[in-house]
Amino acid sequence: MPRVIMFDEFGGPDVMQVVEEPVVEPAAGEVRVRIEAFAVNPLDQMMRSGTSPAIVPLPRARLGVEGTGVVDAVGPEVTGLEIGDPVILTAIPDASVRGSYAEYTTVPASRVVARPAGLGITEAAAIWVAYSTAYGALVEKAGMRPGDHVLITAASGGVGRAAMQIANQIGAVPIAITRHTAKKDDLIAAGAAAVIATDHVDVVEAVRHHTGGTGADIVLDVVMGPGQQDLLKAARPGGTLVAAGFLDPRPAPFPTSMPLTIFGYRSFEHTVDAVVVKRMAAFLNAGVRLGALRPAIDKVFALDDVVEAHRHLEKGLHAGKKIVVTV
Ligand SMILES: NC(=O)c1ccc[n+]([C@@H]2O[C@H](COP(=O)([O-])OP(=O)(O)OC[C@H]3O[C@@H](n4cnc5c(N)ncnc54)[C@H](OP(=O)(O)O)[C@@H]3O)[C@@H](O)[C@H]2O)c1
Repeated sequence: MPRVIMFDEFGGPDVMQVVEEPVVEPAAGEVRVRIEAFAVNPLDQMMRSGTSPAIVPLPRARLGVEGTGVVDAVGPEVTGLEIGDPVILTAIPDASVRGSYAEYTTVPASRVVARPAGLGITEAAAIWVAYSTAYGALVEKAGMRPGDHVLITAASGGVGRAAMQIANQIGAVPIAITRHTAKKDDLIAAGAAAVIATDHVDVVEAVRHHTGGTGADIVLDVVMGPGQQDLLKAARPGGTLVAAGFLDPRPAPFPTSMPLTIFGYRSFEHTVDAVVVKRMAAFLNAGVRLGALRPAIDKVFALDDVVEAHRHLEKGLHAGKKIVVTV
């Protein structure tokens, strides 16, 4: 019988078990996908350990908000998808929906899009979450345009690397922030037009320098915490800050009376909107085809080693590159 990763209680990586379960026939509007690979995301770790903001029903909880595979069965009333189509699973925002940590999963047809041609299996498994988040925050939310100076926090992370590539694809100017000067060369190689290492320079002054004194048009903040104050000062009056992550758990004072537009962003607000998903998929396809977009992979594990994959994530040595499990 096909294998599925499940857990019955919250805890460390060991709570995950490989169990066998019959395949589920797709109901109306659903497809079944034979999974070839899935990516391990920090959200999976939060769901497994019971720290995710979304409710995770126990027992027999499943994981996996992105992955890739081939359509294996098509339910009634599904149009535009056929058995054998290569697809990627777009982030599944509901813990009661079957996830991608499995040999087979059955999901609403609206949760799959065509796999971008030109990507290998491991890259295809790892593109959606980071790239749809960066695209949604920068293009859909902040309206990024060619020539915009875009300040990208945690630029060495998964979302940050995607954001730099997407800014370059649009013709904007990505300015990367890292806490470590040692990461500068890697970030330039990853597409940064300039790098600000906060262990050595003042963010506000450095942004002024790199923007000819005007400040950043857009700030993508996936860190928050007290450092957000400097990001607000580094933006130009009339600019936009999109708060899309929370890597720094320390409280961030609520920004008041700043001459900026400030948005909070959760990619799930877009991944449930079929019209936006269509735009996201088209943009990602074009970027992959042009060679502008390509996820960086850290390490690949086998399905039987999924516990090791989570341990590797928790060590934090993946340097913002994606951890993938092949099935
Ligand atoms: N809004 C959404 O829908 C959405 C979707 C996906 C992810 N997210 C969130 O976005 C954030 C980034 O996700 P990711 O997958 O890109 O993370 P990631 O790959 O784990 O990012 C790692 C990088 O973040 C930087 N970093 C880590 N802790 C930091 C801290 N305390 N202060 C400053 N920088 C820190 C480090 O860069 P340096 O060492 O170079 O400084 C590190 O290399 C997370 O909070 C995640 O939950 C949000």
